[in-house]
Amino acid sequence: MNQNTSDLFPRDFVWGVSTAAYQIEGATTAGGRGRSSWDAFVAEPGRITNGDTGDTACDHYHRYPEDIALMKELGVDAYRFSFSWSRIQPGGRGAVNGAGLGFYDKLVDGLLEAGIQPSPTLFHWDTPLELEQAGGWLNRDTAERFAEYAAVLGGHFADRIPRWITINEPAALTLLGYGAGIHAPGLALGFDALPAAQHLLLAHGLGVQALRSAGAGNIGIANNHAATWPASENQADQQAAGLYDALTNRMFADPILTGAYPGALTPFLPPLPDGDLATISVPIDWYGVNSYNPVLVGAPTAGGAALVDGHALDASLPFELRELEGYPRTDFDWPVVPDALTDLLLGFKDRYGSKLPPIVITENGAAYNVGPDDDGRVPDVRRIDYTNAHLQALAAAMGAGVDVRGYFHWSLMDNFEWAAGYSQRFGLVHIDYETQKRTPKDSYYWYQQLIRSSKGAGA
Ligand code: FCB
Repeated sequence: MNQNTSDLFPRDFVWGVSTAAYQIEGATTAGGRGRSSWDAFVAEPGRITNGDTGDTACDHYHRYPEDIALMKELGVDAYRFSFSWSRIQPGGRGAVNGAGLGFYDKLVDGLLEAGIQPSPTLFHWDTPLELEQAGGWLNRDTAERFAEYAAVLGGHFADRIPRWITINEPAALTLLGYGAGIHAPGLALGFDALPAAQHLLLAHGLGVQALRSAGAGNIGIANNHAATWPASENQADQQAAGLYDALTNRMFADPILTGAYPGALTPFLPPLPDGDLATISVPIDWYGVNSYNPVLVGAPTAGGAALVDGHALDASLPFELRELEGYPRTDFDWPVVPDALTDLLLGFKDRYGSKLPPIVITENGAAYNVGPDDDGRVPDVRRIDYTNAHLQALAAAMGAGVDVRGYFHWSLMDNFEWAAGYSQRFGLVHIDYETQKRTPKDSYYWYQQLIRSSKGAGA
C-alpha cells in the first residue's frame, strides 16, 4: 500500500511536516519574548480543556536539535514552522529583539545543515498582546505592523529561506477568534468579526510585498478549506451551505486569487479603502491549503445550534452544521472522508482556473490519542490509514489536472491543540508531556518509508 501510494507522486514532490510556534515552543518568557494573545487567553479560566497552557508545550525552544534530528531521520524535504512575532518584536512594533531572532537563526541553520528546507509561517495566530489590546485584527494598524515585521524577517532571512508562508488560516482566526470566541482573543462578535478578515488579508498582501522587497521569493499563504456539502437538495439548505461556503472558503480565497470578495458577502462587509483589493491580490507563487474534513451544512432548525469541536455557536446564525453520518471519526470527532479532498481541489480548479497558482497542502492530518504500549511502540494505525487515504485522494486530484507540488503533514509531533489543550494528539511523534520524551509512532516509520520510496530509494 505504501509503495503504491508513493508511486502516485513525482520524484520532485515536496514532503514535509508542519508545526506552529505557540503549539510547540514553550519557554514563553525566555529570551525577552513578549506576551501574546494566546498567553492571555489560556490564562482565562474555562477557555482551554483541562486548563492547559502553552507555557511548556513540547519545550521545542530548548529541544530543537533533537527535533531536527527526528526530521532528518524521517527524511522530509521541508519543515513548516512558525515564527513567534512576540519573540522578534516583543510589543509587536519597533525594536527587534536580537535573542528572538537568534533562536530562529539556530533553528534555520540547523535545518539547512540537516538538508531540510525551512518553510516558515510568519504568523500562526499568536498576536503580540500589545497589538491585541489595541484592537488586534479589528484594527487596520495591525496589518501595517505585520508588514513591518515581515520586512524584518525578510531582511534577516531572505538568503536562507527557500519557501515562505505569510499567515496561517485567517479564516480560523477571524471566525473562531473574533466571531465565535473559541480561540484567542475570545471575542464572540458574529458577523461583526469580518473586519478582522479584511485586515488579515490586507496584512497578507502587504507581507508579500515586504518580503519581495527584501529579496525573499517563493511565497504563499496557508488557508484552511473544507469541502462544503449542502444537507439536502432543498433550497433553504442550498442557500445556507452557499453562505457558509462564501464565509469560510471563498472570503479568503477569492480576494487573493481574483481580487474580489464573493458577492454573497457584500451585505456583511464594511466597504474597503481603494487599493486594498489590489494589495490583497498581489501575485503569490503558490497557494497553501490546510484541509482535514468536509462539512455538511443546512438551514437553521429550531434549537439546532451549530457546534464546532464541542463548542456551541450562536443559534441565530443563518446556517447550521449537521452531523455527517456514515463515516469513521477521529478521536477529535472529525469525520474521515478522504474523497472530500479530491472534491475540494477539483472545485478550486473549476472556480479559479488559470488564476490558481500551484497548490501545496500545508496541513492535513488527524488526532488519534494512542500512546506507547508495553514495548514502547505507538501503534497508531488509524493515522496511517487516514494519511494514506488522503494522499491517494490528493493524487486523484493531481491525476485530474490539479497542480499540487507538496504535502506537509500536521503535525511532526503531538502539541498544544488550541482550545483542546493537550487532549488531542496529531503527531507522527508521541510526546510524553511529563518527561518530554519523544517516541516516533508507527505512522512516523510509515511516512519515512513512503518518502523513501517516492524518491526512488527503494523499500
Ligand atoms: C489547524 C491549525 C493547526 C492545528 C490543526 C489541527 O486549523 O492551523 O495549528 O491546530 O488545525
